[in-house]
Amino acid sequence: MSRSLSLITPSGHLTLGNYLGALRPMAERQAASDCYYGVSDLHALTTRHDPDRLRVLTAEQQRLMVAAGLDRSTLFVQSRVTAHAELTYLLECVATTGELNRMIQFKEKGRDRPSTRCSLFTYPVLMAADILLYRPETVPVGDDQRQHVELARDVAQRFNATYGEVFTVPRVTTPPAGARVMDLAEPTRKMSGSSPEDHPGCLRLLDPPDVVRRKVARAVTDSDTGADAVRADREAKPGVTNLLDILTACGASAEGLHTYGALKAAVTDAVIAVLEPLQQRYADLDPAEVAAVFEAGEQRCREVTAPVLADVRRAMGL
Ligand code: TYM
Repeated sequence: MSRSLSLITPSGHLTLGNYLGALRPMAERQAASDCYYGVSDLHALTTRHDPDRLRVLTAEQQRLMVAAGLDRSTLFVQSRVTAHAELTYLLECVATTGELNRMIQFKEKGRDRPSTRCSLFTYPVLMAADILLYRPETVPVGDDQRQHVELARDVAQRFNATYGEVFTVPRVTTPPAGARVMDLAEPTRKMSGSSPEDHPGCLRLLDPPDVVRRKVARAVTDSDTGADAVRADREAKPGVTNLLDILTACGASAEGLHTYGALKAAVTDAVIAVLEPLQQRYADLDPAEVAAVFEAGEQRCREVTAPVLADVRRAMGL
């Protein structure tokens, strides 16, 4: 059976972007793959963070992952499987500063700032370690993680060519709709979980229906009042295009929608219909059971990754 792997960082309350771009496709893969899905808490340490908040967000995300239907997967919290940190160092001896310098996320969030944490620079190596440790064939992610998965592929190929065939070279998969959900208030920016908690452009998975309604009602569109105003055009109409994308990704049709008011009403209904069952399952879950599912998953991860780490060490001469 083929293997899939993906992680999500608890750097904020999860968003509709996380769900449409990653969580839902991750759940769908369970039918055909042996899946390993994690909470990348180590990645949350790469920018300023509050330890208590991280603990709360980690537990919330664990529960949301179960509520989103990842119940046929091996679930884990990254920091509790120490092989991730160990392989990261070994892969830092394979990745180069040139390739890390080219990473868009680092360029945007940290390069040229002296207070940037070293770990923000090496972030993609930790991510490569997350992936390569499990020898997965596929990595389901949203569009913004493509470049990082590409780096993991390059590192795997270089390692195999230099030290012998140890790693599987994984393939990235992104969903046909919802791979890049944009911010409702600034539709040229990606919807990001690390936005301020009350940011109106960001739909959170645990937002109650009235909050969803308010945020969608305030979504930026444009001043076009023509008969064909409701149409996709990423360059000229980013706000409207984003709403149409969300509508499609939530399984609804844009047919017969001619005004922005009608479009927003349809998006509100479609988003609430997706979130409601998820929120219901979240409310029904027992946190102690969620913790037990993750503990069992972490034990399995230790068993699965130990031989891979041993192969890497041997190949590198340790
Ligand atoms: P993170 O936590 O930023 O995002 C988690 C997943 O959600 C997707 N995503 C989106 N998809 C569509 N539209 C959006 N607006 C949107 N925002 C986020 C992301 O593409 C991602 O799939 N470094 C990674 C986590 C990670 C990882 C890994 C992923 C760590 N190790 C190994 C895959 C494999 C991150 O911070 O994603």
